[in-house]
Amino acid sequence: MLQSPASMGVRPSVPPDLIDQNDREPWKKLNESAFAFRHNLQGHPLFKIEQLADLSEHVFDYPDYKRYFAFGERSLPKPELKRILRESILNIGNNGRWLALHHIDKMVPEYGQLLDQLFADIERLIARPIRSQMTWGSMSIFMNAPALSVPYHFDHETNFLMQIEGEKNVRLYPPGLQTLTIEEIEDFYRHNPLAGRYRDDLADKGTAFTLTPGMALHHPPLAAHKIQNGDAVSVSMSINYTMSDMEDRARVHQANYCLRKLGLRPRPIGESVFWDTAKVRFMRGLSKRNPRTWDEAMYSGVERLGTPFRLAKALKQRARELAPFKGLKSDAEAGR
Ligand SMILES: [Fe+2]
Repeated sequence: MLQSPASMGVRPSVPPDLIDQNDREPWKKLNESAFAFRHNLQGHPLFKIEQLADLSEHVFDYPDYKRYFAFGERSLPKPELKRILRESILNIGNNGRWLALHHIDKMVPEYGQLLDQLFADIERLIARPIRSQMTWGSMSIFMNAPALSVPYHFDHETNFLMQIEGEKNVRLYPPGLQTLTIEEIEDFYRHNPLAGRYRDDLADKGTAFTLTPGMALHHPPLAAHKIQNGDAVSVSMSINYTMSDMEDRARVHQANYCLRKLGLRPRPIGESVFWDTAKVRFMRGLSKRNPRTWDEAMYSGVERLGTPFRLAKALKQRARELAPFKGLKSDAEAGR
């Protein structure tokens, strides 16, 4: 008779925790404020520089591969671009570059499995599901030359930055309007990743964190930050996700950005559920139905509008269609 492993006194193998499960208290602040935590991925073979150089080949399987190159390099043939990217990664200690590979979980199954395990660990820490609620989840890797600084900026996603090799000093600011202006947020959502404007009064504000291998940092969405590398090569991995409410907020900001460009004063986000919903539907309707990349999913609508005059016409037409049913003036008609 066959014996089960349990009856033989053998424990079934359980994958080790990738994220420390002992300190749950900071996780109560998820998406509200920054906090540090510990992980177990330092020294992981999937994040060695040579392995990442091999991984860079897969970038070219996606239509947005030119994002990894300077404008002047983009017309070079693909084999030459592959060589440039690979050598840039292998020489990261000497070339003064900042390099990133995005969505690596979609490129090679081992990274996808790791991402899933990391999200499972987060679900255990917060005692609620996130994978079933996500509209997008992703893993990126960042390789920075010694002493490099990353300019002040903010990101759309819920983010977890895990230090694998080297050291980083990160200053993180309270999210959204606690630090940023509405104009900066709207400018960001028209597809300007450097829309954040650093001000001198921010120098001693926010919270400073030092990330060493095994340390990680949670960034809430729209939490501005700036990063200074230590004096060795830094390799860090980021996992991030978005949910539908975050995407809806982004689309309201996109519509308001366009309205403001027309000289109007758009109704602030959150003031009217009706008009926020109308703006979300309008921007979603303009977006590509089957986006091939995250950028296409998020920005194809606002970029398709092209000129403010086409937008004005479309928004005013939509407002005329909706206003009689609500007895409300649209942003455009109210001149906001
Ligand atoms: Fe960032």
